[in-house]
Amino acid sequence: MSTIPFDRARLLEIASTFGTPTYVYSEALIRSRIRDILDAFEGMRLLYAMKANSHPWILKMMAAEGVGIDAVSPAEALVALACGHDPGHVFYSPNNVSDEELDWAWRNNFVVNFGELQRIESFAKGHPGAEICVRLNLNIGAGHHEHVVTGGTKSMFGIPGNYLEQVLNTTRQHGVRVVGIHQHIGSGSTDPQPLVEGIETIAEVARQIDGLRFVNMGGGFGVSYEPDQTPLDLKQVASGADAALSALANSGVEVWFEPGRFLVAEAGVLLVRTNSIKQTADRTFAGTDSGMNHLIRPSLYDAFHGIYNLSNDSADESVFDVVGNICETGDFFARHRRVSEIREGDYLAILDAGAYAMSMATHYNLRPLPAEVALLSTGEARLISARSTAEEVANDILQRDVSATN
Ligand SMILES: Cc1ncc(COP(=O)(O)O)c(C=O)c1O
Repeated sequence: MSTIPFDRARLLEIASTFGTPTYVYSEALIRSRIRDILDAFEGMRLLYAMKANSHPWILKMMAAEGVGIDAVSPAEALVALACGHDPGHVFYSPNNVSDEELDWAWRNNFVVNFGELQRIESFAKGHPGAEICVRLNLNIGAGHHEHVVTGGTKSMFGIPGNYLEQVLNTTRQHGVRVVGIHQHIGSGSTDPQPLVEGIETIAEVARQIDGLRFVNMGGGFGVSYEPDQTPLDLKQVASGADAALSALANSGVEVWFEPGRFLVAEAGVLLVRTNSIKQTADRTFAGTDSGMNHLIRPSLYDAFHGIYNLSNDSADESVFDVVGNICETGDFFARHRRVSEIREGDYLAILDAGAYAMSMATHYNLRPLPAEVALLSTGEARLISARSTAEEVANDILQRDVSATN
């Protein structure tokens, strides 16, 4: 994203009202991304992969928009229920979990997705008459980084397609019905081609299964983090896969998608304050009051996030390493980046930080978590999570300690 999708003055106002570090999320942008997907894929059912950002304010918005939830853990599912989601609209899709957890999900009436053959075998024995979804790995993978490619023989996810017959025999034998199949090829693809290929491949598999009610195509729609990156054209994915999607619709099989990033990434910015400028023989560091504990994507994936100097945006650009306050050399938001001259005290906006940002934040170095502010469509900026305090973080770790009593 080359330009900032927020009003600069408004962000400065939010930084001075709520302090920093603060995540800001735009309601209008999230709602418009929901529309973009629904417009591109007519008649589909939309779920939100809440791992991208599990703030209850976002989950309630999704419920109000009729968007269901893709949850991967008991706590995610419980938060979804508490935010008004119907259990039948929660797609429970964990990996490598116990029979007990899957049974818990089934008893809660979630749509349960199985990614391991052994778990299907043990579940089927104890649940005659149950209806399940099966996660397949059909050898198509794509993503913005190798860590997030989930299809293919190097990936631990899903049941390889050549085991499908075995799955169907086992379930049939125990009177369990496979009503859905699922695949997620990976996260953050801005290339329509693998997404189309994924849809076509699983649609072909769907033709071989009697009594199927839905095919969940997964998520994976990428966003363009870099200024010169071509944005994903969802309509190109829809038209490329039109024949496969129409064939499913004509045979009465619903099409589901479960994107996370596409719905929320561009709707979020992280506001930080520059506490120090440090020059070495090699670099100029702008040291901020946040870090990899709040936004780990640059360190984890070498991910690009646009950085905008809100306080000095018309100044000449210089090259900076924009870094955090964590004791790691890998603690950076950007390396060797041209930004309008950064001075001590300047507020920076780190762009496209609505997905896999706050949901991956930690208390590493025992630093508090940022505040979160929703920029409502009415124009109001509303605090939706208070910044945690050093005392809270310290008390939490001290209270968890039971070493003296055991
Ligand atoms: C199974 C599954 N579904 C959906 C998603 C969401 O992916 P994205 O945020 O790229 O849409 C993920 C992300 O890892 C996933 O693992």
